[in-house]
Amino acid sequence: MAPATERRDPTRRQDGGVEIPPPQPGAAGARLCEAMLDGAAQAALAEAVRAIVADAPLYRPTMPKTGKPFSVRMTNCGPLGWVADKAGGYRYQATHPATGRPWPAMPPAVLDVWFAATGRDYPPEACLINWYEPGAKMGMHRDEDEAAQDAPVVSISLGDDARFRLGGPTRGGKTASVILRSGDVLVLDGPSRRCFHGVDRIYPGTSTLLGAAGRINLTLRRVTPFETGADAPSSG
Ligand code: SIN
Ligand code: FE2
Repeated sequence: MAPATERRDPTRRQDGGVEIPPPQPGAAGARLCEAMLDGAAQAALAEAVRAIVADAPLYRPTMPKTGKPFSVRMTNCGPLGWVADKAGGYRYQATHPATGRPWPAMPPAVLDVWFAATGRDYPPEACLINWYEPGAKMGMHRDEDEAAQDAPVVSISLGDDARFRLGGPTRGGKTASVILRSGDVLVLDGPSRRCFHGVDRIYPGTSTLLGAAGRINLTLRRVTPFETGADAPSSG
């Protein structure tokens, strides 16, 4: 497997997907690549997620100010993981908050999705894994804990359908909603990268992939800006 620091050929085919009509000015650039993963690829990725969770258990994050628990449970894979708790706030770190161990490696299939969906030649550094049980949701928020704000955010859906909502660069105003199904890949690129978004609800029982009601979402992000040569493998 290629290390997570290696560049890839930017001329490889990119799955462009279809742009979500921007609900407000400043919300362009969100693309949905429907069924980018076929059934076999979804099953293989679900299995890879199980192996990650066995090593890096799901935990329930809490909101920085209030300590209120999230309705999703989380873990990560890759060099960095996004974590949240009352004491430390929102942040990236290289180790699991409960076990203290480094996050497991990103599965090669996840890196493949990033490169194919973004057309970028640099890899993501973090893969946040959200587990939505029936009733779980994600309030409207922006992904703003990354210095690499120009790098796209890629999200892969597995399991039950979800209703995803895209807003604009400031809180409030018109939103667009789109159903994310198992195997779909959503890319927030361009201005939409800095826009509010969330998950209203999931639809239990709409997928048999996971053998139980619920949804897995993998969110891939670049955290630190990629500098040419800075973290490239030293091959002479
Ligand atoms: C998120 O934006 O944090 C999650 C998106 C999703 O679950 O689809
Ligand atoms: Fe997000």
